[in-house]
Amino acid sequence: GLGEWPAIDLRRSPTVSEHVESLRDRVAAAVSSAIGSAWPELTDADPVVRRSEHADFQSNGALALSRHVAARPAEFAAELAGHLGPGGGTETELLRDVQVSGPGFLNLSVTDHVLWEQVAARLAAPRLGVPRGEAGRRTVIDYSAPNIAKDLHVGHLRSTVIGDSLARVLAHLGADVIRQNHLGDWGTPFGMLIQYLDEHPDATWHRAELADGASAVSAPNQLYRDARAAFDADPEFADRSRTRVVALQSGDDATVAAWRDIVAESERGFGEIYARLGILLTPADSAGESFYNSRLDAVVRDLRDAGLAEDSDGAVVVFSASATGPDGRPIPLILRKRDGGYGYDTTDLATIRYRLEELRAGRILYVVDARQALHFRLVFETARRASWLADTVDVEHVAFGTVLDADGRPFRTRAGDTVGLTALLDAAVERARTVVGEKNPELDTAELDRIAETAGVGAVKYAELSTSRVKDYAFDVDRMVSFSGDTGVYLQYAHTRIRSILRGAGDDGVSVDAAAGMHPAERALAIALDGFGDALTEVAATLEPHRLCTYLYDTARAFTDFYEACPVLTAPPPAHGNRLALCRLTAATLQQGLGLLGIEAPERM
Ligand code: ARG
Repeated sequence: GLGEWPAIDLRRSPTVSEHVESLRDRVAAAVSSAIGSAWPELTDADPVVRRSEHADFQSNGALALSRHVAARPAEFAAELAGHLGPGGGTETELLRDVQVSGPGFLNLSVTDHVLWEQVAARLAAPRLGVPRGEAGRRTVIDYSAPNIAKDLHVGHLRSTVIGDSLARVLAHLGADVIRQNHLGDWGTPFGMLIQYLDEHPDATWHRAELADGASAVSAPNQLYRDARAAFDADPEFADRSRTRVVALQSGDDATVAAWRDIVAESERGFGEIYARLGILLTPADSAGESFYNSRLDAVVRDLRDAGLAEDSDGAVVVFSASATGPDGRPIPLILRKRDGGYGYDTTDLATIRYRLEELRAGRILYVVDARQALHFRLVFETARRASWLADTVDVEHVAFGTVLDADGRPFRTRAGDTVGLTALLDAAVERARTVVGEKNPELDTAELDRIAETAGVGAVKYAELSTSRVKDYAFDVDRMVSFSGDTGVYLQYAHTRIRSILRGAGDDGVSVDAAAGMHPAERALAIALDGFGDALTEVAATLEPHRLCTYLYDTARAFTDFYEACPVLTAPPPAHGNRLALCRLTAATLQQGLGLLGIEAPERM
């Protein structure tokens, strides 16, 4: 009976294993092996085991598998049930109940004992026992990629936040992640900027020259606007700007020095935003368009030698083998423009080649607006046809939708400009201050400032991450800083509540008694907590951080249900220790999960 199982004392646990297999995987393995012993021809078949509302897990593999052995799904499932679980089955320790339901589903429940053991094992293991499923995979992630002398806008915010979370999750699962910030730091606009500075030596655009409070981000942007206005108004200035581009490309010292100054000043501004947002990118991750300049000639030459590039109206292009325009003709990638210049297409061909041949990537992700889907399709297709890209390498455009305002229109200020990021973050922090202040009137100003910043920034990031990335998404500050609903603030707050329970428990040791029975709310929470690694594995496979958000939100709600139904500090043993263990594991899971989204989990708020 269950009484034989001793309590597990974590402090003295002799076997702390690094990787704790999830119960979902263990149940799937048990069902798969039962299938193999009943029908040897189906050995290693996938039983499709998922979390379920009807039991702990559900297997719906019978529907497809029964066909291979000419059985009806319901019969197949009934026979399979006989090989599993209590009453003659082989998995009495793992499964306490197996039921056939509907047209051939199996509802599977695990024993209280394995669940408690699982909680104890995760608490004792490093990294909560999550497997390193991406170990050894070199993964290049291209994200953020703002343009020099322009503001980061909400589209770059999406790329930055989504890309950073993917970088964190994949690295946590063991991938060798290389971050690449593909800055827009090259091309014709720089001729205009440098020429303007040359003709207006008094122009103030360095942060240091500006009044206090002016942002380092918007200063170069003002230079951009002034230069652009001159360029549009004065054709002679435009001509001098074009000459300046040639000087830049041919390495003229003074021109290159001015270019470097503009790039450095912009990068300082981007760095400030990254620091405020807690983004991993550093200047060492910058490999902007200019970085590929010396590789462009070879790209064109080699594509010509491969017979892929051809002349068309004075330009050099590669026509797509699969994509046609409205006129039915193949769509070209432009390698060299009629004026001899290189552009965005050529640079991205050099980029993918560099990442494959020099960085030796096994996976390359481009976290870029969905409106660039055709561009990436053609770049990947060309790299494949040129034999730079082999089938063994996974290359993906991790696309995301447009940011809309609360009324569903593309996000703009009243003047029609795209809204700068600093203003958005300030608005969210301001709202968070009001909401947090109302909840905690006793906080002093310094602490309120600190918490409002953490909550406001976390709220914006969570809102970006929690909607399916391919969808357009509405930026609604009031909704995102709410203490209730699927928000970053809710999750941060849930974490602080558990921390305060744990502070109340003081030094009470955590010792899990696996022989204890389980309340349904304890069971639901324990099952949720056991699925952390499964959720991360899904994010790695789908590149969809919103799955981690949904997981954390569901887990926080399971905790709330548990805490309402099950007293913790006042419970007698063994419930006391077991419930404290659930609290600890929940706090650790929320903290690590938020961390993988790039969101801070403060101790109090
Ligand atoms: N700078 C570009 C933009 O603002 C994004 C670059 C994305 N990365 C790339 N390899 N094309 O639209």
